[in-house]
Amino acid sequence: MLHCRESDYCPPAPHPPPNRLGFVELLIKLRRNPLECWSADFFQEPIAKFRLPFADAFLVHHPPAIKRVLIDNPKNYRKDPIQRRILASGLSEGLLSVEGERWELQRRILAPVFARRTVNSFTKPMIAAANELAARWTRLGPGAVVDVAAEMALVTLNVLALTIFSDGIGGDFEEFRAAMKAYFSTIGRIGVLDLFGVPKFVPRPGYRRLRHTMAYFEGVIDTIIHRRDQRLATVAANDEPDDLLTLLLRSLDPSTGRQLSRAEVRSNILTFLSAGHETTANTLAWSIFLLSQVPEWCSRVVEEAERELSNPADDLADRLIVTRAVIEEALRLYPPIAALSRGAVEADKLGEMLVKPGSLIVIAPYVLHRHRELWARPDAFDPSRFLPENRGEIPRFAYLPFGIGPRTCIGSSFALQEAAIVLAVLSPQFEMRLLPHADVWPLQRITLRPAKGLPMRLIQR
Ligand code: HEM
Repeated sequence: MLHCRESDYCPPAPHPPPNRLGFVELLIKLRRNPLECWSADFFQEPIAKFRLPFADAFLVHHPPAIKRVLIDNPKNYRKDPIQRRILASGLSEGLLSVEGERWELQRRILAPVFARRTVNSFTKPMIAAANELAARWTRLGPGAVVDVAAEMALVTLNVLALTIFSDGIGGDFEEFRAAMKAYFSTIGRIGVLDLFGVPKFVPRPGYRRLRHTMAYFEGVIDTIIHRRDQRLATVAANDEPDDLLTLLLRSLDPSTGRQLSRAEVRSNILTFLSAGHETTANTLAWSIFLLSQVPEWCSRVVEEAERELSNPADDLADRLIVTRAVIEEALRLYPPIAALSRGAVEADKLGEMLVKPGSLIVIAPYVLHRHRELWARPDAFDPSRFLPENRGEIPRFAYLPFGIGPRTCIGSSFALQEAAIVLAVLSPQFEMRLLPHADVWPLQRITLRPAKGLPMRLIQR
């Protein structure tokens, strides 16, 4: 049963099975679409326990227990192998994957790179990338049909390219884009080897292709870094390219004065490209889909965008209040990272539950954001929950699209700003109308995406 009133719009989502799945069924669904594994009790219980072949697993959606795992005792809950393999395959040296002191050092160095002021300074390249897409859509002619999900992947990769390397990727951008697509289609499936805790040196399907793709990325990025090093050595400080790459090469650890090594810079560029690309693209795709279904909210977004785009660009995203509420509601219903997982290092207690060392802890934003005890009309689309006057009613720890605690998403402001700007640039120019027989369904791969894309007709306003 989905929970909403008759007058509400409840977007497509699997109906949770009434009973828990048996192990074989669980394996099949995990591989096919993990969203379909969550049975009804998970959406009601604060903490649910189940057994995996190699350990106990706890599904934790109780705010005090979430706080314990992610904020109060995070050293006891490390990123577990499943999450690392799914989210960060091949990215072994970047912030998403490293642990302990290496993580602390990188996080300290990278925090200023994603500070609000820096992110604000990327407003112009974000508007430029959105305008470039709008111009391409205009060239397609009236009534063109596009896959909006793929188009959003294009624009978010473009935003990253413009903000990381303001002087371009060099070589063939199309080839780079194709490699990115191949990377995302190779990783992201939870398989039987992962669930049985089979060590990482045992190759998974697609492993050889992944190695090949990673070698290609590393080659392209090393060339860019080398060129930039040469350029920074010769130009005056005020002629340095104003982008993430310069910031990464120049950043120092505030405590030790240490810089990132070139290998760490390369890994972090790859990490940003992979962590920031599909996540933001899917946020935009779902927002556009939801707006196409609810004309009242679509009109409000268009009205706000028309008003705010006619004002100076500085702080544009901060003024897009309604647009931001729609994006946050899309992130609630379809969180791109649908589940976070951790492995317990030592014994601990979560509520009344005893957690043994080696237990798997899963906090699933998809379940948390639709939890019956935490949200009213949990399956209904209602962006007004996120308008400033109502925000205070959202329980703490009930909304975690970017995680929380020390390992919270470092790119959250970047992503929210980018999504708001892209939506605000496109909405007043195009009505994006879903094709009548389009089959829209959420599929969890690495990110939560529309399974068959989002075929939409573009009507110029
Ligand atoms: C809507 C878009 C995004 C969503 C929903 C999202 C979600 C998340 C989540 C849930 C985590 C925490 C994982 C955990 O605790 O296990 C995370 C971490 C991270 N994200 Fe994002 N992300 C988004 C965009 C971005 C962007 C744009 C970037 C960079 C350009 C980025 C870079 C990272 C990095 C580097 C980490 C690891 C942080 C650490 O471990 O210290 N993300 N993201």
